[in-house]
Amino acid sequence: MDNANQKKENVLAGKHIVLGITGGIAAYKSVYLLRLLVRAGAEVQPVATPSALEFITPVTLSALSRKPVVSEFFTANTGEWHSHVQLGMWADAMVIAPATACTLAKMATGVADNMLVTTYLSMRAPVFVAPAMDFDMMAHATTARNLATLRGDGVTVIEPASGELASGLSGRGRMAEPEDIVAALERHFGACDSLAGKTVLITAGPTYERIDPVRFIGNFSTGKMGYALAEEAAARGARVVLVSGPVALTPVHPSIERISVESAGQMLEACRKNAAEADIAIFAAAVADYAPAHMAEHKIKREHAGIDSIELVKNPDISATIAAGRRPGQYMVGFALETDSAEANAREKLTRKGLDMIVVNSLADKGAGFGTDTNKISIITAGKPSDVRTFGLKEKSAVAADILDAITTEYQ
Ligand code: CTP
Repeated sequence: MDNANQKKENVLAGKHIVLGITGGIAAYKSVYLLRLLVRAGAEVQPVATPSALEFITPVTLSALSRKPVVSEFFTANTGEWHSHVQLGMWADAMVIAPATACTLAKMATGVADNMLVTTYLSMRAPVFVAPAMDFDMMAHATTARNLATLRGDGVTVIEPASGELASGLSGRGRMAEPEDIVAALERHFGACDSLAGKTVLITAGPTYERIDPVRFIGNFSTGKMGYALAEEAAARGARVVLVSGPVALTPVHPSIERISVESAGQMLEACRKNAAEADIAIFAAAVADYAPAHMAEHKIKREHAGIDSIELVKNPDISATIAAGRRPGQYMVGFALETDSAEANAREKLTRKGLDMIVVNSLADKGAGFGTDTNKISIITAGKPSDVRTFGLKEKSAVAADILDAITTEYQ
């Protein structure tokens, strides 16, 4: 218990955080936020817009962070160039607090006319914004639209509170309290470590079953869901073995080891080789159910032999095979892509394949399934098959986070 608490308290220790500050009255609270982050052990680089420095002084920020404040592209008297690209690579997180309506709009549209927005555009780490503005501005359709765009781009919005505003009016638009912003970062980094030391095996994409050297049986899977799961698991500290069918995607996170395969047979072989090391296996691939019994050595000619019919053989079920040979303590998750009676079919698959959890997507839901950037899922577990957890339509990256949250809860 003590250890767990200690771990939670130290989750920000050593983390590199870019603190973006924009020109709103709430900028004075950023000083306290900076203080809290430094006290939690984080290394903080303040990046302020020129108008932020109308509200607070660079001396305060640099004294607390022990770093020169970055605000301009160049230091006027020395000509020294400040590299937003380097900051983008240095940071473990960027938090912009306060984020004014103007900065949110610039971020949403890529208007990179100051150091803060260029840093945002170069940022490889997760970005958090804590909006602060008058409540009419907050309620305006433009602000809502910009926030929706930013959420879609993967930015986390730390919601503003309701209360007294600088204008004297009262309503929604007060920046979240510094303690709440720190808590949001702690939650993020806490989740980051949740799969540390674990190995996650993931299958993704379609399989191609060759008919002859130029033709195959396949399906429309693009691998987006499996790759999103791989990125999310790696971001949470896991070593990921991604067994991927032919897709146009490339893994980004350095902890993802990709094994590229073509057919179901090759996918099974790669999974067999790596299954023993896996703590968790997620079967997200859309495996072709059948393969030609024989592959023609030469291209089948229309005029000669023809391909009026192809003799097919059933492919091995990769998830069922790996689940059947598992050792105790391994957690196995499958997907069920259904067009009708989704839950009943998924429950049947969960049992038939011997899995611990099944993620259901129904092609009946708009925005779910192959090729889309979004998905809409339900989760059913073997422990409580009558409980169905249903989630809303989300970006596949957010869906991946929901799936890994559910796995982590069940697995521990
Ligand atoms: N799966 C697998 N190997 C196969 C077929 C499916 O590992 N040969 C896995 C998928 O990766 C997914 C789950 O099994 O996690 C369910 O896939 P799905 O295509 O929905 O089910 P099938 O078993 O193929 O059943 P059906 O096509 O009849 O719906």
